[in-house]
Formats: sequence, C-alpha cells, structure tokens
Amino acid sequence: MNVPTLPKVELHLHLEGAAPPAFIRGLAREKKMDLSGLFSENGAYRYKDFWDFLKVYEAATSTLQRPEDYHRLVLAVLEESAASGVVYSETFLSPDFCGGRDLGAWREYLHAMREAADQAERQFGITLRGVVTCIRHFGPEKARQTARCAAETAGDWIVGFGIAGDEKVGQPKDFRWSFDLAREAGLRLTAHAGEWGGPDSVRAALNDLEVERIGHGVRAIEDLALVDELAERGVVLEVCPGSNVALGLYPTFRDHPIGTMFDRGVKVTISTDDPPFFHTTMAREYEELHRAFDWDEGVFEKIARASLDAAFCDDDTKSKIRAKLETVDA
Ligand code: ADE
Ligand code: ZN
Repeated sequence: MNVPTLPKVELHLHLEGAAPPAFIRGLAREKKMDLSGLFSENGAYRYKDFWDFLKVYEAATSTLQRPEDYHRLVLAVLEESAASGVVYSETFLSPDFCGGRDLGAWREYLHAMREAADQAERQFGITLRGVVTCIRHFGPEKARQTARCAAETAGDWIVGFGIAGDEKVGQPKDFRWSFDLAREAGLRLTAHAGEWGGPDSVRAALNDLEVERIGHGVRAIEDLALVDELAERGVVLEVCPGSNVALGLYPTFRDHPIGTMFDRGVKVTISTDDPPFFHTTMAREYEELHRAFDWDEGVFEKIARASLDAAFCDDDTKSKIRAKLETVDA
C-alpha cells in the first residue's frame, strides 16, 4: 500500500491549527512579536494539555492579522495536505480570528482565502471548502455574531457551520439560536462533542443542535447503545485519532475506539484536527491505523467514499472528487 498516493478526503481540519510552526514564527518575526514561549527547543508547538493547547493556538493565531496572512496560510496548509494525498478538505474557519466577527472584514478575509484555494487547486490538485465555526468558550453572544457572518456568506464555498473550543464550557443548547440561523441559511451542521464530554455530550449535540456530523464523538464508546444508535441513524463521526492520542484521551492508536466503532457500523471518517500540534499528517494517520487495526487499502477506500458522501459541498464538486477517488493506482 502506497499511503501518500491513496486519495483522501478530510472533513475536520482547523485552518489556524494547521499552520506550520515555522510559518507562525515567520509572521511573528515580520510583525516583531515575541512568541518564543509557544515553541519548544526543536521548534514544535509546546503545550501541557488541551486547555493549554487552546491558549497556545490562540496566541499563535494572533500573528494572523490581515487577509494576506490568511492567503499565505491557506496555500501553506493545502500544500501540506496535498502532499499527504488529500484531494478534498473541509476546513473550519473562524470569523472570530478573521476580522473579529465584523461582516465586512470577514468578507475580505474570505475573498483572500478563496483566491488562495483556487490557486492551490490549480497547483496541487486539492479542493477546499469552508465550515464557519464558532468557539464555545467565547460564549453564545459571539457565536450569534459568527453565525450571522456564516449565514450572510453561505453558498457554494461556505458550506457548513459548526462549533469548536472548550467542550467543558456551557451546553450545546446555549448555541441553538446560532445553529438555527445557520440551518435556515442552507448550511449543513456539525459540532465538536464527545471529545472532552462523555456520551451525553454527543446526545446533546444531536438533539439540541440537530447536527448531522459530530466532531470527534469518540467518547460515545462509553455507551454501546449510543454507538449502535449512531450506526443506525447514519451519524457521521469526524474522528481524529492522532489528535486524541496526542492529547492523552487514549494511550495509543491501538486503544483508540475507531476500530470498534467501524466494526459496529458507525460511519467513521479520518482527519488530523490540528496536524502540526499533534505531530501528524493524513498519511501518518493512515499508517498508524494500518498498524493498529490492520486496515488495508479496501478499508481506506471505503472510508474515503463515505467521507465524500458526508461532505457538505454540492453534487458537482462531489462528482469531480469521486472521479479522483476512483482512479487509484496504488
Ligand atoms: N479547536 C482546535 N482544535 C480543537 C479540538 N481538538 N477540540 C476543540 N476545539 C478545537
Ligand atoms: Zn477539532
């Protein structure tokens, strides 16, 4: 199996979280910002746990201050993803970081990101679509402003709405208004749940926000009735095994519940979340899953097809990507 050449579909990637540390250091240097405390001696991002990770993430993101910075970021991130064989990427974008939730500013950032995505598509053969994401620990009022930005720019490129951030803060139902607005604007919905919260957090996201996909969702494994319900209802999980291992949810890939969930018929997909923070790439996720569960090319092809089916983009885009999945020469 030639892992890098297997065509992959990634549904769960935070754009700022995918910024290579050297890229952020370069921006900090240009802007004369001292962010040396964010990095370890070998140049990697340094954090103690998930909550510290969120702080480092936000501090690194403070170097991204203009639409041109996001243009460069999109190119850098898509080049990396394409090198791992990703042909379609759905990426979380945050108006919180792109112009402070001001609609006019958000449109300018979006324009820059789309231009970079078009360039990357021509150069690297990877297609990008955006899922606007509010941030849970910033609270419901900011989420409403974010949802308005999402609703106003919904279309063939901004295709979804979601929520990330600290799952221990607030409840999904606090964000219902924002999710209703996004749904009414035609956006498809996903929510981070079942990463730092247990099975009840997955139920709450499904029942209170009516999302069709769950970001992570892995802790549903603590309630097998819920796992079977996810399988029956066809709920798609955006699973990020390397992220969960790096953040200490599971000690190794072998201990990760994705194997059991797949065997029980849950629609699992594979993503990297914030790859440089977790020392991973899509190619590495595949290699580790192959080692842990003996998954072969047939399993990965099945997962890539299911991922594309669960993507939020339009049918024309899906047909174009499907053709790429079918021409495997590994
Ligand atoms: N933001 C970036 N990565 C995240 C994660 N793994 N969980 C919640 N919020 C995030
Ligand atoms: Zn995430």
